[in-house]
Amino acid sequence: MVAKTYSMGLFGMEAFPVEVETDLSPGLPAFELVGLPDASVRESRDRVRSALKNCGFSFPVSRITINLAPADKRKEGPIYDLPIFISLLQANRQLTFAVTDSVFIGELSLSGDLRPARGVLSMILKAKELGFTSVFIPWENATEASIVKDIQVFAFKHITELLQHLTGEKMVAPYPFSPPKPANLTTDLDFADVKGQSEAKRALEIAAAGGHNILLIGPPGSGKSMLAKRLPSILPTMTFDEAIETTKIHSIAGFMDKEHALVQTRPFRSPHHTVSTAGLSGGGTVPRPGEISMAHNGVLFLDELPEFSRSAMEILRQPLEDNMVTISRVSGSISYPCNVMLVAAMNPCPCGYFGHSSRPCICSLRAVNQYLGKISGPLLDRLDLHIEVPPVEFQDLSNAEKSESSAQIRLRVEQARTLQQKRFAGTDIHANANIPSAGLREMCEMTSSAVGILERAFEQFSFSARTYDRVLKVSRTIADLDGSVLIDLPHVAEAVQYRSLDRKYWLNEL
Ligand SMILES: Nc1ncnc2c1ncn2[C@@H]1O[C@H](COP(=O)(O)OP(=O)(O)O)[C@@H](O)[C@H]1O
Ligand SMILES: [Mg+2]
Repeated sequence: MVAKTYSMGLFGMEAFPVEVETDLSPGLPAFELVGLPDASVRESRDRVRSALKNCGFSFPVSRITINLAPADKRKEGPIYDLPIFISLLQANRQLTFAVTDSVFIGELSLSGDLRPARGVLSMILKAKELGFTSVFIPWENATEASIVKDIQVFAFKHITELLQHLTGEKMVAPYPFSPPKPANLTTDLDFADVKGQSEAKRALEIAAAGGHNILLIGPPGSGKSMLAKRLPSILPTMTFDEAIETTKIHSIAGFMDKEHALVQTRPFRSPHHTVSTAGLSGGGTVPRPGEISMAHNGVLFLDELPEFSRSAMEILRQPLEDNMVTISRVSGSISYPCNVMLVAAMNPCPCGYFGHSSRPCICSLRAVNQYLGKISGPLLDRLDLHIEVPPVEFQDLSNAEKSESSAQIRLRVEQARTLQQKRFAGTDIHANANIPSAGLREMCEMTSSAVGILERAFEQFSFSARTYDRVLKVSRTIADLDGSVLIDLPHVAEAVQYRSLDRKYWLNEL
């Protein structure tokens, strides 16, 4: 007899249904698993065999064929243990129950404990879309699943509890749907702790308001890392759609914590400079999201930028432009979204004091250029705001007065985002930084004096077409912070000024 249960598979962010068919036929005992299983799926046989035995069932002594359909899509990970277990019991008629409208997801331990799976959120959302009425998942994935409405989620710690439920011996209630609670936005790191540095704070406020990339450059100890780490405290709250997207990625990467059903605060990822290209962009035989995708809808912070390998920096170029990273494999290419705000910090030279107001730099000009040359032109071009973080003045440091708090700054950021949400209503754009070239003219309307100054800057600084677009978008954000519908001269002037550092340092125009 052929028994059939349902499960789900993942291809990148996309979930797809998987039919688990089990056929028992007379003949020499054998166990065939077909339908493009990877090594961890093939090992299911041993886990399921032990789990069956340890739960008091017998492993069928016959020729067992298990087919995971559709046969042309790769099945990855140990999540098919549970559907295979159920399907074997049915085929063997050790238990009879109808499960055609249910999806089973979960890894089994040898004693029958259910272990958590990756990517459960994407799979449940898809199962719901396909019309399944219930899903059976490991207990540890329950919180993550509880935000999905209109599908019954049954979560268990051990397979015997699940079987008791299915046979009606001891039914349990579905895991309750719980709408996400308001995000907790309090952090210990507050801009009130940063003395002085008003220009850097202003630039970070603009970056947060429009989702722009930013480069902080300055001598050691001036507070670059300190400033960047406080960025999450002024980032705008995530919309529900953004939260779902980010949660899906974190779930696929196996990074969900058990307390939070949804990633509601914008991620802040700061990989160490020894990170591999695969660690940054995603990879592995079963491609998993890399740091850039883990930072989706949040911040990717690269501290000490020149220390990162050239290949790591180069691999970021395309994803930064497309907001999507594609990983190619023989089995097909997988894309993960990566709409991030790139924040980079660096010293201007190996000793750190090139261009310092009082302390001399001990590096040769050649060493300085070599150091700065590690940041390629195309990457520099993608950093919308370049800001100098000068050494803190003694007066500022000794000033007992508290600076403006993050909450106050965030208020302005949120106001600018509200304007943007109205502007982008009905599109999938979230912030000014994502305005496509085609929409620039319509969405970034300028006064004639603003056009004039931009034209002059374009010629004087020999901007590339990309820089022009980016300066315009930053001007849009500055105008939004100002509550202005049209982009005016001061807005453009400020945006252009954030593109002058590359001349100072990279062209040595001190
Ligand atoms: N503007 C500032 N206000 C208060 N403390 C500061 C400031 N700048 C630097 N510091 C102190 O100096 C330390 C080093 O700063 P850090 O951000 O690591 O410097 P950088 O990354 O530029 O080398 C901080 O942890 C902080 O204690
Ligand atoms: Mg630092």
